[in-house]
Amino acid sequence: MQLSQANVEYIFDYIEQLCGIALDDSKGYLIEARLNSLVKQHALSNAVELIDKAKSPLGESVRQSLVEAMTTRETFFFRDNSPFEALQFKALPELLDEKYKEKSNRIRIWSAAASTGQEACSIGIILHEMIPDLHRWDIQIIATDISEDALAKGRSGTYSKMEVDRGLPSQYVTKYFGVTKEGYKVVDSIHRMIRFQQLNLMHPFNFSYPFDIIFCRNVAIYFEKKVKIDLFRRMLPLLPKYGYMFVGVSESLFDCGPEFKPRYHCKSTFYQPHMPPPAPLGPVRGPAVAAPPIPAKPVAPVKPVASVKPTASAPIAPKPASAAAAPGFARTIPSTSSFATPATRVAPAPSTFSR
Ligand SMILES: C[S@@+](CC[C@H](N)C(=O)[O-])C[C@H]1O[C@@H](n2cnc3c(N)ncnc32)[C@H](O)[C@@H]1O
Repeated sequence: MQLSQANVEYIFDYIEQLCGIALDDSKGYLIEARLNSLVKQHALSNAVELIDKAKSPLGESVRQSLVEAMTTRETFFFRDNSPFEALQFKALPELLDEKYKEKSNRIRIWSAAASTGQEACSIGIILHEMIPDLHRWDIQIIATDISEDALAKGRSGTYSKMEVDRGLPSQYVTKYFGVTKEGYKVVDSIHRMIRFQQLNLMHPFNFSYPFDIIFCRNVAIYFEKKVKIDLFRRMLPLLPKYGYMFVGVSESLFDCGPEFKPRYHCKSTFYQPHMPPPAPLGPVRGPAVAAPPIPAKPVAPVKPVASVKPTASAPIAPKPASAAAAPGFARTIPSTSSFATPATRVAPAPSTFSR
């Protein structure tokens, strides 16, 4: 049955609220086909009934199947290559220097919208390639996604021949994968580093520690501009001042404000937090001179970045006994952004992330 325009809008609005994905009429026929199979699966009579069920308090399974049907989980190892080169040859060497200075052996990386885990595995491979004394480091890669199907595959750590052939140099297949009867399984030393967790990027974050590096690639392309800007501005306070943010090669954060400082490496652009310089304290000596009046300036639409405050400790995993004695840093991250964020249609909801 053909959906009326009003019903199409009702469905699209709800999907955007649920997972941020903005649909337009050009996708109508595709969405209808996907929804029709869910209508059958949940023994309902039409797509509007499906959305009503998803909105009801007992609609969790319908909500999750909508998420699975609407998300595009396309990913592959070392996707786009250049961000991984920038990580390997620029960001990671700088980060390691910073860690030596801080006498910290702790690195936290977030692969947000990780899909089936190839991005997190690629990061794990780079860490292995670049850190010879890896066993002395306390490293975790948190791989999150809204799709339970994607996370289940990621947790298995096993990929088909076709999947490893997409993007993985053959020497890495030999070095970092074992052949099992299910396929190619990533080695334990990488698998153990990665924790897969469900997290909806539309919800407030509830992390109690900062990330040194965030990868959030090829997901905000599905969101409205204001939802994308809000997402990255909520992520920024999760980074220390030397932290790194990587986005997809077709994405940029130039519209997110001056707090995102672009850095370049070959063909890649990545971002670091840019803290505004502190306000000058005023003249220390000399006669008091009346300052000329300052012409009124329009108020900037964006507040300065809130700095993360040190707390006693926030360990998320015990350090191995062999780990370097350097204490890791710990900070508390505000659970929601302290930025003035543009209004979105997405109502805040509790994060599904648990540590
Ligand atoms: C195209 S994949 C990108 C995977 C990987 N980052 C990459 O670049 O190869 C997009 C992923 O975003 C996830 N996603 C979509 N909406 C999301 C949301 N609101 N919260 C968390 N993940 C979401 C999808 O489930 C999908 O796995």
